[in-house]
Amino acid sequence: MKKIVFRIVPAAVFSLLACVLFLPRNTQAQARLNSGNKTSVPPPILLGVAWYPERWPESRWPVDLALMQKAGIHFVRVGEFAWSIMEPTEGDYRLDWLERAIDQAGRHGIYTVLGTPTAAPPAWLTQKYPTTLRVDENGKRAEHGNRQQFNWDDPKYRELARDIASHLAQRFGHNPYVIGWQIDNEYAEVSFDLHTRADFQTWSKNYYGTLDNLNARWTTSYWSQTYTNWDQIPIETKPGNPGLLLSWKRFVSDTWRSYQKNQIDAIRRYAAPRQFITTNMMGWFDGYDHYVVAKDLNLAAWDDYVGEGHLDPYKNGATDDLTRGFKRQNFWIMETQPGHVNWAPINNDLNKGEIRAMAWENIGHGADAVSYWQWRSAMNGQEEYHGTLLGADGTPVPVYSEVSQLGREFAEAGSVLAGTSPKSQVAILHTYPSFWAINWQRHNKNYDPINELLSYYRPLHDIAQSVDIVQPTVDLSQYKLVVAPGLNVLSDAAAKNLIQYVKNGGHLLLGQRSGMKTSDNALQPERQPGPLVSLLGARVAAYYALLNPVPVSGQFGTNTSQLWAEYLNHLSPDTHVLETYGKSNGWLDGNPAIVTRSVGKGSITYVGAWMDEAGMAKLAHWMTEASGVRPAFGPVPAGIDVNARYAKDHTVFVLINFDPTEQAVNLPHPMADVLHGGTVQSVSLPRYGVAILSEKN
Ligand code: GAL
Repeated sequence: MKKIVFRIVPAAVFSLLACVLFLPRNTQAQARLNSGNKTSVPPPILLGVAWYPERWPESRWPVDLALMQKAGIHFVRVGEFAWSIMEPTEGDYRLDWLERAIDQAGRHGIYTVLGTPTAAPPAWLTQKYPTTLRVDENGKRAEHGNRQQFNWDDPKYRELARDIASHLAQRFGHNPYVIGWQIDNEYAEVSFDLHTRADFQTWSKNYYGTLDNLNARWTTSYWSQTYTNWDQIPIETKPGNPGLLLSWKRFVSDTWRSYQKNQIDAIRRYAAPRQFITTNMMGWFDGYDHYVVAKDLNLAAWDDYVGEGHLDPYKNGATDDLTRGFKRQNFWIMETQPGHVNWAPINNDLNKGEIRAMAWENIGHGADAVSYWQWRSAMNGQEEYHGTLLGADGTPVPVYSEVSQLGREFAEAGSVLAGTSPKSQVAILHTYPSFWAINWQRHNKNYDPINELLSYYRPLHDIAQSVDIVQPTVDLSQYKLVVAPGLNVLSDAAAKNLIQYVKNGGHLLLGQRSGMKTSDNALQPERQPGPLVSLLGARVAAYYALLNPVPVSGQFGTNTSQLWAEYLNHLSPDTHVLETYGKSNGWLDGNPAIVTRSVGKGSITYVGAWMDEAGMAKLAHWMTEASGVRPAFGPVPAGIDVNARYAKDHTVFVLINFDPTEQAVNLPHPMADVLHGGTVQSVSLPRYGVAILSEKN
């Protein structure tokens, strides 16, 4: 029935009807926005979609906007691929359509996040200025026809990017409906052209000062790599000199930062301070150091796609925690899949209810916005098969109703979640240099540093129900327990911070492969964990890549070590052995696998084994007990995911059932049921069921 209405009712009439029919669902902020109140503040928890008005006749916009409004959508992200429409020929800026789209959205109670369109330069631009096209590792220049073909280090491209960002900011920097900016889109592709190479050489000079210093720190006497002139330094992309590789990645990170800063400065010159600036990052993507690039942003955001298969709540939650750690504050989900993607080997759909559960899990981990990519498929173009909220005929597909449910729930729970954020007793330490260093020299092809981190994260999240993922140089004093799964590259500053943390009574646990490298990705002059050896009162005698798991036993019963085994020796009298290797390759047999030492009220532990799941669970219990970590909520049945967000006067718990069967959860004490009203002492959750519970502090 609805489908017929959509097809035969003229857009303007439909829009009017929709406004009247659906207005009650507006949040207060939306209503204020509708009434043209220029000071309106966006709601605390936002639902969004990626909308591409440039792909549709303007007569269609009111229909789309009314359907968004009906779904409770608070913002659209627009513009990030529309450069050829914004500036069809050089210097001819056409932004009226964009202003009309933003204004119409605003009149439907919908805010805008405006993307700068630099991930997709127009054909006239790259044709006229060929250096703006990036060059791949084999020296081939990119061509038009796709996106991300630009050269992030090219001065001309930066000038043109600054121009378009400035024009957008002059036009929309004070538009009441524009709440923020997204710079570019998913930074990823770099260039290997000669200009970039020269810039890398200059970067190296600035970083190392003298060639003697660089040669010493990269040990270039090895294989006759000694450099006698800065312009001899190559761009290394394949596994090569570890010092050169790490420097290149640092240069890439700094270059993305300056690429981004170029546009931030252009926008900030004209934009109202209330407008935030972000970019959409990609979770564990390790093309650049996200801590470096996040420095100049107001908030971090990531694009959360499951791809093939189903949601892994641990991995997804950890990725949220990673992103929250970039700025150590709440973050946004700038894109997520409404059902399925189009780029995985099998683009299966998420189950009914899974999209909602995923969104709430994001919120539980500190997301303040969840935005679906995309509203409706372009009628042609590379992504015709991707999941959307509307079909090709412009009417809702089944997931629209699930997203609409989120719209209602976000409005319901927004005021309780306002001003809340996660707070953890446990920190997992992460650095990009360590991830890169392990990936360049895995030594065991199956040694994935993300999996290593997750092997600690999973049992720790089960127990603590909240985990931060942060850099080792941050102030760690708030944490009862700090776990460094594979802190392979250990800078002097990080080592100092960790020693201080333990001496101040903190509990530090180092995972396998920690403390092996200096900040030049050279070997530490001491055995692992390098500068922490004397604090630990032990050192790693040797490491072994394993063909098969080896037995480990002791404090945690009988377990196995997977993929990797390090044994420790030279133990101080007060360094205790928790686990010992069983019979395996002869070298490991009977030697310490895990050791620990008390340091005042604190402790330091080294785990040389990659413990199996059961062993890891016991290890996590031991370390949380020893450090006094308490669960944020309390015991829950297996499969129930718990996350907490805190404000001064109250705490909000987000409970989700990822178990296939219905689960009953008894609450530690009565709490307010935010979505259903009233006070509850227990909740019963079907698969993907969600409960939002609030209590006064
Ligand atoms: C993202 C990208 C979007 C869209 C989406 C499809 O990586 O930012 O523009 O392509 O993937 O899943």
